[in-house]
Amino acid sequence: MSKDQKPVVLTCAQPTGQLTLGNYIGAVLNWEKMLQDYECYFGIVDMHAITVDYKPSELRKNTLSCVAQYIACGLDPEKSHQFIQSHVTGHAELAWILSCICPIGELQRMTQFKEKAAKLGFQIDKESENNLKLEHTGAPSQASINAGLLYYPILMAADILLYNADRVPVGEDQKQHLELCRDLANRFNNKYSDTFTIPEPFIGTTGARIMSLADPTKKMSKSDVNRNGTLFLLDEPSILKKKIMSAVTDSGSDIIASDDKPGIQNLLTILGSLTGKSNQELEDKFSGKGYGEFKKSVSESVIEKLEPIQKRYHELMTDKIYLESVLKSGAEAAQKRAFKILSKVSRKSGYYERIR
Ligand code: ADP
Ligand code: TRP
Repeated sequence: MSKDQKPVVLTCAQPTGQLTLGNYIGAVLNWEKMLQDYECYFGIVDMHAITVDYKPSELRKNTLSCVAQYIACGLDPEKSHQFIQSHVTGHAELAWILSCICPIGELQRMTQFKEKAAKLGFQIDKESENNLKLEHTGAPSQASINAGLLYYPILMAADILLYNADRVPVGEDQKQHLELCRDLANRFNNKYSDTFTIPEPFIGTTGARIMSLADPTKKMSKSDVNRNGTLFLLDEPSILKKKIMSAVTDSGSDIIASDDKPGIQNLLTILGSLTGKSNQELEDKFSGKGYGEFKKSVSESVIEKLEPIQKRYHELMTDKIYLESVLKSGAEAAQKRAFKILSKVSRKSGYYERIR
């Protein structure tokens, strides 16, 4: 890497709906600094989204909504490359090459694959983890897992290695996939010659972890079936307020950050992250006040923070031409980098050079 070249961060998300306050505090708040220190690529991974049951019209709509949410949150398109995965040639091609150095058993061992397979009524036979022996426990008519679901982590590895990303922000549930990506990169480098950068997880500076409002021992997540536990960036103010006012707390009355008060601690983390105040400052401020008043303050802060984001989002959604221009230049920049790396990988793999 030359001196004036910044290291590369690749962030990817599936266009499966709305960002949460957890994503906002745990990831988005890091972006401004990340953009200064790194060359940042943001991929909207629509090819991953089709591995599960989905509606094409919704996928299309959510893809545009995703980029509008990013920009509304302050992700400056002038300082980053935002692109749609299927617009860049190379993701599927590299995934194919990587699949040829990836044992099937490693894919079957992936926790997320097992969870998704279990949701479809399958259990992996423990004795034969390395064989494709899946026991179907439900109705035989539903007995099918698509190959894309198994192959998913290879496509994810290709996303990362296609840009030779130095750092990748990943949540807890994606760490195993990043590990597989590192293994595949090492395997390729050893088999052919040094080609891929081995990616490291990106740890942001404002790493607060936001918990579910309905169950403060669980992470707030967009895929939580209990939607009352999750604050979505685009929730109406009245919904935000309702969810926060009914957040689970304990039976006491003190507003203090303590491990045996996970609900209050979570609300303090939210308030502290949005206002920049420390736990001590907040504890002093709310000393002697009741839970109701405290929750009201939290909800006011959340609404105040999200109002301008929501306004900007709705404006952007009426400006498709602008959003598409962002995606076009993002895809061009991504393609330029991807082509270089893919050409190198193709040559090393022994593909005959393209005839021009
Ligand atoms: P989700 O569970 O909502 O689908 P992901 O696992 O896709 O979220 O994570 C996307 C990014 O947002 C990651 O960088 C992750 O660390 C961050 N993130 C997700 N949920 C939270 C949370 N509850 N608290 C803090 N950060 C979070
Ligand atoms: N699997 C990731 C998720 O569901 C999304 C993803 C796809 C990803 N490709 C990636 C994340 C590459 C980081 C890097 O959250």
